[in-house]
Amino acid sequence: MNKIEKISEKFLTDGWIILDLEAKKQSVAYEIRSTLLEELRKNWIPNLDSLDNYHLYVEDDGRHIEIQSALSKFYQESNFGPRLIEENIEFFKSFLGLDLHVQKFPYLRIARPDKPQDNIGIHRDTHYGSSPYELSVSIPFTENGAEGSLGVVSGTHLLSEAALPVEKIPSQDVEQGSVKHKLGFLYAPKIMSEEIRAQVVPIPLKVGQALVFSLSLVHGQEVNKSSITRFQSDIRVVNSMAPIQWERSVHADYYKPLCASAISLQAQIYNAANAI
Ligand SMILES: [Fe+2]
Repeated sequence: MNKIEKISEKFLTDGWIILDLEAKKQSVAYEIRSTLLEELRKNWIPNLDSLDNYHLYVEDDGRHIEIQSALSKFYQESNFGPRLIEENIEFFKSFLGLDLHVQKFPYLRIARPDKPQDNIGIHRDTHYGSSPYELSVSIPFTENGAEGSLGVVSGTHLLSEAALPVEKIPSQDVEQGSVKHKLGFLYAPKIMSEEIRAQVVPIPLKVGQALVFSLSLVHGQEVNKSSITRFQSDIRVVNSMAPIQWERSVHADYYKPLCASAISLQAQIYNAANAI
């Protein structure tokens, strides 16, 4: 069995894998980490020595959301997320196919220690209209260990929605179309049972690694229990032929083309020539 077959088998069983980013220490992940720190120093926290210590300077929730919103905009406009995927394109081509789309505006997550309001909790993205054809590539910019990392419940990606019931509750602090909603928080969160939430196992990662998982997998974090702030981004990648809902509520142009096979390209030219 070759490497990609082994990875595929693990993914099929567990719903997630850990990917060592191609360029390791030269990875775009390190560039993002240092650029985010630079931006924070330049605009908000001149004395910040490391992303780890962000929470020591930003206690107030309003100020935190203001900073996260501006920093997310900077992160998205810099095209860092798609660049990270491009850097590892050989892996994604062999794992997902030669025709791929990547999320255009990936979210930048910032979770301060002991602040449940900074997290969206434990969920499956299929609760909110996403498809199991979509992959989430979660990239950490801080190393939070077992207490502060995103967790998963292995094998849940194969279960029906009925097998994992949820309770829909209105959010206390997120309104549809609000700044927090645009940052990836939910205005109508669906809460999973205590039983399933208790089964979440954290997956600690180093900078230079990614957690790649199915959007039908139960995952997330309720509270960052480590002593440092968690900075992370999740970037979606999908096969261009997958039967998914391409337009979303917050960003209509949710995905952009990443790469295409010669077969697809020639078919597109043929179709255009024939007005199909
Ligand atoms: Fe999610």
